Amino acid sequence: MRIAMIGSGYVGLVSGACLADVGHDVVCVDFDEAKIEALQAGVVPIFEPGLDILVVRNAEAGRLSFTTDLSSAVASADVVFIAVGTPSQQGDGHADLSYVHSAAASIAEAAKGFTVVVLKSTVPVGTGDEVERIIRQVNPRAEIAVASNPEFLREGAAINDFKRPDRIVIGVEDDWARTVLAQVYRPLRRDRLQVQFTSRRSAEIIKYASNAFLAMKIAFINEIADFCETTGADVQEVARGIGMDARIGPKFLHAGPGYGGSCFPKDTLAFVRMGQDFGSPLRLVETTLAVNEQRKRNMASRVVAACGGSVRGRRIAILGLTFKPNTDDMRAAPALAIIPALLDGGAIVNAYDPQGMHEASLLLPSIDYAESALAAAEGADCVVVVTEWAEFRSLDLRSLKAAMKSPVMVDLRNVFDPAKLAAYGFAYTGIGCGAAP
Ligand code: UGA
Repeated sequence: MRIAMIGSGYVGLVSGACLADVGHDVVCVDFDEAKIEALQAGVVPIFEPGLDILVVRNAEAGRLSFTTDLSSAVASADVVFIAVGTPSQQGDGHADLSYVHSAAASIAEAAKGFTVVVLKSTVPVGTGDEVERIIRQVNPRAEIAVASNPEFLREGAAINDFKRPDRIVIGVEDDWARTVLAQVYRPLRRDRLQVQFTSRRSAEIIKYASNAFLAMKIAFINEIADFCETTGADVQEVARGIGMDARIGPKFLHAGPGYGGSCFPKDTLAFVRMGQDFGSPLRLVETTLAVNEQRKRNMASRVVAACGGSVRGRRIAILGLTFKPNTDDMRAAPALAIIPALLDGGAIVNAYDPQGMHEASLLLPSIDYAESALAAAEGADCVVVVTEWAEFRSLDLRSLKAAMKSPVMVDLRNVFDPAKLAAYGFAYTGIGCGAAP
């Protein structure tokens, strides 16, 4: 299959490289010349484990190329994916569809022969209809079918998620697009993979409903964590207990400082707006959003409490800045709510993150950055674990304690075993574990 991927950002690049790796002929398009030049030179502009190897290998094999020339890429493609950004519209939280609409108009002008246009960007319900309308209006003779094929990639695990997905959702309105897309994904087929063909609108909703449900699961366990703290229980035991019920499942039940990232906060907000627009309010999603924002803001007060009621003049070491491990992404990261609140309280903050410090320094310019977790902890009154990077699990606790002024730890991800930390002489606060009242 000859595939054009419009948009060489996170989703486009991962999808394009993976589709090339399973044997398709893929050209990734972007209007950002610097990005395309870098990719042509084998330099991947984002941090995603394994992506650089995949890009170079497939480019060398001649299955993957990069261009700013949308017209020629589309003209020679059987399938055109739209994987452009859909950021939150300034002010109102609706998804901004201007890139999607302009891609549709450009595709309409360039398409030659039968072309399946596939929406991979996360778009509100009805966008497939709108894209089809735009294409037919710009070029009434275009021979196209429009499909919806949402992505379920997690940052940091995106290549595995693409190549070994739980399910592939394909929303189509005609048999021809269905046959073509079945062929695109045929190389990924294996025993337990479910391919679900749905209507276009159902596929669009499946994407938002999936993210909203996962966000709700996290907000739920975070609220249960607070309840465990008050009532003298342990949220990790509770999560394990409820997760053993196959109807609930064990995943996404890790209590923490609230979810962040480029997807859950943006998509839940856009979903809420959609509900309002269609006059069918999504109240659970609305509450999830509000509860999560509140949670991120509340986290700093745990640090204040661990420091005896005030952080004024105290040195606080922050371990982990990104919204989760294995990414350099700082978007909507809990650290962005916690650190400013600590600074407001008069703290002196020294932070360390294995990948996120460049990004973080643009957003939080007034704190210090250290070259390692131990260096951040030097002279600290309190260490706060904000992101559960694997390297923190193997920290030498004796050296950590020796580096600090006073051995106080607030572990917002339950990385450490409280008993072990106590044995090393730390005053330890985790999430969701309280003494009986
Ligand atoms: C999420 C979804 O998991 C993907 O399926 C989806 O494709 C993607 O959004 C998207 O829409 O593009 P991602 O944002 O990369 O992926 O990150 P997740 O691994 O889902 O984590 C999101 C946030 O939830 C992180 O801040 C993480 O720390 C938090 N989280 C996750 C918890 O606090 N507890 C958990 O149990 C799980």
